[in-house]
Amino acid sequence: MAELSLPFKSRYFPIKKFLDVYQKSLEDPEGFWAAEARKLYWFKTWDKVLEWKPPFARWFVGGMLNASYICVDRHVKTWRRSKVAIYWEGEPGDSRALSYSTLYREVNRFASVLKNCGIGKGDNVVLYLPMIPELLIFMLACARIGAIHTVIFSGFSAQAVADRVNDIQAKLLVTADGGFRRGKVVPLNSIVDEALTKCPSVEKVIVVKRTNSPITVKAPKESWLDDLLEQAALFVEPEPVESNHPLYILYTSGTTGKPKGIVHSTGGYLVHNCSAYKWVFNLREESVYWCTADIGWLTGHSQIVYAPLAHGAATVIYEGAPDYPTIERWWDIIEKYGVTVFYTSPTAIRMFMGYGEEMLKKYDLSSLELLGSVGEPINPEAWLWFYHYVGGERCPIVDTWGQTETGGNMISPCPGIECVPLKPGSVTLPMPGIEVDIFDEDGKPVPMGQRGFLVIKKPWPGMLLGIHGDPERYKETYWSRFPGVYYTGDYAVKDKDGYFWVLGRADEVLKVAGHRIGTAELEDAVVSHPQIAEAAVVGKADPVKGESIVIFARLKEGAEPSPDLKKELAGHVRKEVGPIAVPDEVYFVTKLPKTRSGKVMRRVLKAVANNTSIGDLTTLEDASSVEEIIKAYQELKEGEVKKK
Ligand code: PRX
Repeated sequence: MAELSLPFKSRYFPIKKFLDVYQKSLEDPEGFWAAEARKLYWFKTWDKVLEWKPPFARWFVGGMLNASYICVDRHVKTWRRSKVAIYWEGEPGDSRALSYSTLYREVNRFASVLKNCGIGKGDNVVLYLPMIPELLIFMLACARIGAIHTVIFSGFSAQAVADRVNDIQAKLLVTADGGFRRGKVVPLNSIVDEALTKCPSVEKVIVVKRTNSPITVKAPKESWLDDLLEQAALFVEPEPVESNHPLYILYTSGTTGKPKGIVHSTGGYLVHNCSAYKWVFNLREESVYWCTADIGWLTGHSQIVYAPLAHGAATVIYEGAPDYPTIERWWDIIEKYGVTVFYTSPTAIRMFMGYGEEMLKKYDLSSLELLGSVGEPINPEAWLWFYHYVGGERCPIVDTWGQTETGGNMISPCPGIECVPLKPGSVTLPMPGIEVDIFDEDGKPVPMGQRGFLVIKKPWPGMLLGIHGDPERYKETYWSRFPGVYYTGDYAVKDKDGYFWVLGRADEVLKVAGHRIGTAELEDAVVSHPQIAEAAVVGKADPVKGESIVIFARLKEGAEPSPDLKKELAGHVRKEVGPIAVPDEVYFVTKLPKTRSGKVMRRVLKAVANNTSIGDLTTLEDASSVEEIIKAYQELKEGEVKKK
């Protein structure tokens, strides 16, 4: 057999076992993934492992399965029926523990509620809920009957909810009477009321009682969940679906104003995630696993719900803010539940680092065995702080790289097979079955140490089925930059050992506290303000959040710049998109720097905002606008707001 070119040099490491698994996975990817797939439960085995009609991949074609059966029914047939599936901690201090048998009962009853509301296979259901067990249960209940769920992060605004609901023409929406965040109630149902004035497809709204807020539920369109549960059956047959039946659609930001509805399959997605979960988190039966992400993101779908439950793991869910009511909340939760695997974000680690390690000393964190980081590049200082103080220098850190589109982790250490030597800040090596590389502008692999674009060279089971309703955008976004390979939109570099270092986004997408936000989406929100003519949004390096949002806006004729207008604009963006999109800085300018073809040169604005070198300006239409921006920036940095 011809020697495979591994993306790293095996002679550097004593990691024979990992390299063997990796090498075999590349020699026969279909055989490799089929063996992984057999570890799940299939009502009918697939006819074909992979149907690859570039750029569309269909895995385990003809195979029939059900995600709720895999995550729940399988376990209640074993001793795990009495094992804790979910440890849930509410922000006000209330808590619930759900065994697998309780989860089974609830998933069945919720599935019956959905059916009684007229929902069936292939229908779209929107879940706009706080981090409460009902969210997970509804996800699994949808999967049970073959309905497709779309979870909308509960921090999104009415407009963001309406856009997503309309894109998928959802028939049913589930929300709550509110959610707790920093001791306050987020009025989810009134946000929904506002959104639904623009959403004719929604026929039914189910409201979960969480905060006991005095709200009125308007029958017959709206109903309390509790009332519907009174009529619910105790068992609903799980609907076998073909492997490529969508399990869910999850929206994420791209380079245009319209968020993309990423469609994930059932079979390929579950196979990828179940395998990746085992390799990355090295889970044992007695592990207590806590992923702090919000369920509204891909990490939450994969690493709080589907992968842990498919493995029969105990998963911890915390409803509220990390530092509420005090900065000790998380450490208290680790001690309380004896968490063994703790998976979080670099932003959270940096925030806690800022408070100092004293707070950690009050808690017994000795249960921890493995730490993880995801969502953005982690700087070595934060990595080392996490390693020394949280992990007590005994826990490996898995820095995992993935995207909403990849469905699961792709590059990460795999202690579940064999842990590679770690390097703070590096995501290390691609996982088994995953072939990645770094290309230059011309689509050629870059030499070691040189920055380039991270690409994925072969289809993988967790990959998106497509963008909902927009196959052209799918082709254009991911497969047109370098024909035949998947373009991630990330910059990366490979070191002399073949280790990957992901440097950040190469496109117009920001990562603010790990949240992915498109600059175009923000600009649309800014220009929807009646006094704004034109705007450009850029990211500014932030020591805690990774990036913060800076707005440069040109006012309409007659509008006057003022601190009040700035505040109003920040509030407007918050209302249009949600609290994660609130800008840190707003600058009013009379011109934006543009190329001769009329494109805003964000590079220039970014350099101004970050105080770095601006570089080549030869394509700039009107260089005076750069000076103007620098001037406006400096004036405002000094705290002066000058009226024109
Ligand atoms: O830029 C990369 C960054 O997050 C992006 C994907 O964001 P999202 O779709 O929200 O998914 C988040 C996690 C599944 C990537 O394109 N990113 C994610 N993980 C890492 C990372 N950057 C550096 N290191 C990571 N470990």
